[in-house]
Amino acid sequence: MVQKGVFITFEGPEGAGKTTVIANLYNRLKGEGRNVMLTREPGGIRIAEKIRDVILDNNHQEMDAKTEALLYAAARRQHLAEKVMPALRDGYIVLCDRFVDSSLAYQGHGRGLGIDAVLSINEFAIGDTMPDATIFFDIAPEIGLARIAKNNEREQNRLDKESLDFHRKVYEGYLEIIRRYPNRIIKTDASLSEIEVTENVWKIICAQVM
Ligand code: TMP
Repeated sequence: MVQKGVFITFEGPEGAGKTTVIANLYNRLKGEGRNVMLTREPGGIRIAEKIRDVILDNNHQEMDAKTEALLYAAARRQHLAEKVMPALRDGYIVLCDRFVDSSLAYQGHGRGLGIDAVLSINEFAIGDTMPDATIFFDIAPEIGLARIAKNNEREQNRLDKESLDFHRKVYEGYLEIIRRYPNRIIKTDASLSEIEVTENVWKIICAQVM
């Protein structure tokens, strides 16, 4: 694919504050007249939002870990083909809340399927479309989970409700992925205030898009 745009993804444990900060960055880029698209995984388009509902449904306790990994990869493929790749071809800056690293950390390490096994099914889904840069919102899982527990407006989904042990494994998985991709993944301290995190991530993004 001839890619003219810039593909930036955002990763981190639950309650890291990604979604709010990404919205701030999106507004700022828009305000500067940039062609920018904000989207998320799993979801972002009709079919993938339906798959999201299936994965995150609190009633689906019997879901097998491999099924979960395949559903995330399926949602990812459709979202990429239908929305992200066309936008990159058209020269957009694409800001995506979560991407393949979430599968590596949550399903690969958290569920214990193995990072390499999960990477291989995702390679089938995404081909060679990898982010130009990935920003990791670094926060201890305990602090992230405490933040979402306090937020009454946020509904707790099937993955939020996993044990602290699971979320610790996810965090460890992220640290392993950062070691694997040191050039692509940039850490930011997500324990700071929303304004500080937005400023820090803004600087990282400017280095990618200006
Ligand atoms: P969100 O809460 O950031 O919208 O993400 C939904 C949940 O799905 C969150 O708990 C992280 C999880 N997830 C995975 O386990 N694997 C993935 O590949 C993605 C994209 C998300």
